[in-house]
Amino acid sequence: MRLVLEVWRQDDPRDQGRYEIHEVDDATPEMSIVELLDRLNDQLVEEGREPVAFESDCREGICGSCGVTVDGIPHGPQPNTASCHQRLAGYQDGRRIRLEPLRSAAFPVIRDLIVDRSALDQIITAGGHVAIPAGGAPGADSLLVSHEQAERALDMAACIGCGACVAACPNGAAHLFVGSKLAHLSLLPTGKQERGKRARAMLAEMEQDFGPCSLYGECARVCPAKIPLTAIAVVDKEALRSFLRQGDD
Ligand code: SF4
Ligand code: FES
Repeated sequence: MRLVLEVWRQDDPRDQGRYEIHEVDDATPEMSIVELLDRLNDQLVEEGREPVAFESDCREGICGSCGVTVDGIPHGPQPNTASCHQRLAGYQDGRRIRLEPLRSAAFPVIRDLIVDRSALDQIITAGGHVAIPAGGAPGADSLLVSHEQAERALDMAACIGCGACVAACPNGAAHLFVGSKLAHLSLLPTGKQERGKRARAMLAEMEQDFGPCSLYGECARVCPAKIPLTAIAVVDKEALRSFLRQGDD
């Protein structure tokens, strides 16, 4: 299958960037978007040209590094699927595909398809962790967590930090990401202990770089971890709770 790729090239954060047109003649339906970029780079290297810079690591939808924008959609056209799992089976021979970085004011382009997502890391550094000395592992029956509660925490802990939710949001909001972290930690006994302090710190950091949430819902449509929109309600709930109980935690 022959595919025509319109690929974003940008030498560094100050470069204005431009699209380059390339053709890949031997793409197969089983290939992922990331493997298509591998194939393109093989060609470019054979021609003595600079390969396209992009990120990938696990190639199993786990690490969150591979996100690119495919025809305007973060990660690609298949909903809730990371770029490394977006297959080419739906494309016809001769199809043109536009590949560009995740687009958001909070994610400056470093080079070609690689963006700087450290604004998300800063939110985690501000409070997305357990900072108190938690001690050794307690006995299994001394700290009871219901199965339902553990499942809900695990569902929220599935966020892989890819940043696609931010890129999909017309406001550049990070509420799905932040809500998933707040929910996951506040549902479990150890995380509960710094709940208010955590919410204040993470939300203050979030407001530095990201926009407000208007509940468009685009974030949940692209999220490869299927974090539900209810995570956004957790942001408001934790913000209100931390405001009303300033001195408690
Ligand atoms: S909430 Fe989903 S889309 Fe957003 S960073 Fe986490 S995994 Fe990626
Ligand atoms: S390479 Fe790890 S999620 Fe795609």
